[in-house]
Amino acid sequence: LNNIAVLTSGGDAPGMNAAVRAVVRTGIYHQLNVYGIMYGYRGMLKNEIFPMESKSVANIIQRGGTILKTARCKEFYEYEGRKKAYENLKKHNIDGLVVIGGDGSFNGAQKFSQEFDIPCIGLPGTIDKDIAGTDSTIGFDTAVNTAIEAIDKIRDTADAHDRLFVIEVMGRDAGYIALHSGISTGAEHILLPERKTEVNDIIEELQANERRRKLVNLIVVAEGDETGGAAEVGRIIKERCPQLDTRVCILGHIQRGGAPSCTDRILASRMGYAAVDALLEGIHNVMIGIVNDKIHYTPLDKAVKAKQEIDPEWFKIVKILAS
Ligand code: F6P
Repeated sequence: LNNIAVLTSGGDAPGMNAAVRAVVRTGIYHQLNVYGIMYGYRGMLKNEIFPMESKSVANIIQRGGTILKTARCKEFYEYEGRKKAYENLKKHNIDGLVVIGGDGSFNGAQKFSQEFDIPCIGLPGTIDKDIAGTDSTIGFDTAVNTAIEAIDKIRDTADAHDRLFVIEVMGRDAGYIALHSGISTGAEHILLPERKTEVNDIIEELQANERRRKLVNLIVVAEGDETGGAAEVGRIIKERCPQLDTRVCILGHIQRGGAPSCTDRILASRMGYAAVDALLEGIHNVMIGIVNDKIHYTPLDKAVKAKQEIDPEWFKIVKILAS
């Protein structure tokens, strides 16, 4: 192993920069040449590949976004695209690749590593925490904390006006941001894609709450919930409970930005270090996870397919604590 490259792909997540920094500095420590690839797979196809030094990653551990930029690249789904990308890597004699991204990015890495002789290591970088083989993903903790900060503020104004708020958080098909931010802010209801919620049940509870003069209610909805997001839940509640003062708030992309939390910086630093370590050890085509505080390898194809499960006990906790 002589020359490795690192890229960030898919939606950005706070802590990606910390991971890039760890890969670059660990690589240099082991006397490897480290290359950065701009705009994820798209940059691999367009040969936007440049050598990085230790100082290329100075002053970035605390920054959100990704200095390598990111993109979603359709051409990489095609064999011809991947071949072009391979040829570009070969121009720089790159013999190891670290991909920081979500399950879509691992899907690409998995195909690429099967077709060409470039060992790939995946690092789970996504706010959604929707990847099996790791207890958390880079960016999740920060996103949840951003959501909490916003929801706490919403509760202040909800409380002042005796209002009901329906708040939508991100997570794509996964409900972890909703579950964690909902529990942490004392939300009365949390709607998740992992478990069907009957809106009728919520309406009944809201009416019961109203009878005991409990008018401030927060409902956190994961964007992937099958009811149809906060706008739809809010519409139904307004229609069925016109006497309640209901507002809808979609938190959106603020959840993707901001300085990474301590937890994400540490997760990213450990994972970036472990990625280079794995390449040096000849461990290939795995995603680095951390399970029970230990580095854990998951074959890239398993990291792609599997979803984490939400323990049903969490739903019981939500119900008991918000009653
Ligand atoms: O995967 C991260 C994520 O922020 C999801 O939570 C969300 O569904 C999606 O990306 C939004 O994608 P975009 O930034 O392309 O609108």
